[in-house]
Amino acid sequence: MKIIQSPEEMRAWSDEQRRRNRTIGFVPTMGALHEGHLSLVRAAVNGNDAGVASIFVNPTQFAPTEDFDQYPRPFEDDLAKLGAEKVEVVYAPDAAGMYPDAFSTYVLVEKVSQGLCAGSRPHFFRGVATVVAKLFNAVKPHRAYFGQKDAQQCAVIKRMTRDLDMGVEIVEMPIVREPDGLAMSSRNQYLTEEDRRKALCLSRALFLAEEMLKNGERNAQVIISAVRNAMRDVTIDYVALVDAETMAPLETVTRPATLAVAALLPTARLIDNIKFDPGARKM
Ligand code: PAF
Repeated sequence: MKIIQSPEEMRAWSDEQRRRNRTIGFVPTMGALHEGHLSLVRAAVNGNDAGVASIFVNPTQFAPTEDFDQYPRPFEDDLAKLGAEKVEVVYAPDAAGMYPDAFSTYVLVEKVSQGLCAGSRPHFFRGVATVVAKLFNAVKPHRAYFGQKDAQQCAVIKRMTRDLDMGVEIVEMPIVREPDGLAMSSRNQYLTEEDRRKALCLSRALFLAEEMLKNGERNAQVIISAVRNAMRDVTIDYVALVDAETMAPLETVTRPATLAVAALLPTARLIDNIKFDPGARKM
């Protein structure tokens, strides 16, 4: 497995693969890899001729008050996991190379970047869209893989890719959960035992709402109230029932929807969601 640090070297490698008609599947990450990331990596490796993963803790998506310094960076462990999955290249640029002193260009994806996570993290999607655009320019993937857990991030990246004619297919992969339902996240390791127990109310609330939707409930307020009630033991950041593509709030679930939640636990902010398509045929 090759480790590449500069965008020039990364682009040269990718150009060579493309010359040889090899497809490139790409998984952007901030490291601290768990099974959720590895499910994306497996899809990238199995669905393409070459799998590439990046590891870069992106400073522009953290506010000064957030956990950029504490964010886990188990680089050697991450490399071992990616090697075991037969990734061909790990792209691991450094912050000075990504954001030199004169850096002044940002990607702003309007509308879909508003609401939900932007409420408490207003800087976040500008940082994500900018770094993903830069990573795509260096890695030149045919397909890129993102987890549904970051549903708004997926919607932002899909919009950006279409709007800027990037020619990258975005593949959204299902959420990977712990056996008790907690959505996997690199930040779960911050949780104390008590917070870990309380965190289970996010997935339980979403599964309850999923049953309501499957049983025919379509009124967003009724569903949101039930979810808020099931999350009453934690500080809720938001509960939102939105159009799955535009992230605009829905009053009634008449088209594919995302029900997304975020909670502020003392040791971590957690997000989770489910998707529901009222038009999908029952199996
Ligand atoms: O989801 C993440 O880990 C990050 O937001 C991403 C997409 C790697 C950009 O830094």
